[in-house]
Amino acid sequence: MSLPTHIAIIMDGNGRWAKQQGFRTRIRGHEVGVEALRRTAQSCAELGVKYLTVYAFSEENWARPKAEVNALMRILVSSLSKEMPTLMKNGIKLQAIGKLDLLPKSAQRELQEVKDATAGNSTLVLTLALSYGSRQEILQATKTLAREVQLGQRSLDSIDETAFGQALYTHSMPDPDLVIRTSGEQRISNYLLWQISYAELIFMPVLWPDFSREHLEEALSQYAARERRMGKTSEQLNEKST
Ligand code: FPP
Repeated sequence: MSLPTHIAIIMDGNGRWAKQQGFRTRIRGHEVGVEALRRTAQSCAELGVKYLTVYAFSEENWARPKAEVNALMRILVSSLSKEMPTLMKNGIKLQAIGKLDLLPKSAQRELQEVKDATAGNSTLVLTLALSYGSRQEILQATKTLAREVQLGQRSLDSIDETAFGQALYTHSMPDPDLVIRTSGEQRISNYLLWQISYAELIFMPVLWPDFSREHLEEALSQYAARERRMGKTSEQLNEKST
């Protein structure tokens, strides 16, 4: 059964979960969402998935009510230190992508500490997309490459898909093979637009705080049943595999 090397997840539905459970605010949904993330990262490490990239906070999320943004930042800071033993025990290396300089200083400090402490781990690379927006990432990469051309550091013809990929936040990772979005919404929401060009997309009705090992395994079996043609024909793929 083919296993994706890189899974990207849009963890959606925390607010609806909190409401369904009768909590007064959406915050409890985010807190329980951290537990779902811990379970999922552990499962990915056990199953042999090498990269897991999760949409933890989008650029657009800054526009949410201040109390919710503050709560999310508080949850980020407290989870980072609390989750260290889990990360170390499971050989998980933590990374972050996005406009990280917009995060509160305390969050930047915690991130740096956990990144440094887990840098030697190699079972799974867990990347948090924080203050992340894909169009902004693509624009930034475009400007970086344009500047290099302007300064005579590279030729126009040297800008190909590889060079462009190298200018993105995700330069050290292979592209995602599978994108999972929970909560039933069927959108990409400005997530890894360049990188998911050939990814399989799976939308699941489960709300993120309820996402379990069984849901992950269900997504993996759907993925394994799909034929990834990458623009080729079935016949060409079958020739290669026989
Ligand atoms: C989407 O649910 C979820 C988020 C915007 C935040 C995701 C964060 C976590 C799972 C916790 C981990 C957090 C950090 C910062 C590490 P929603 O709030 O959009 O839910 P709704 O669509 O039901 O309103």
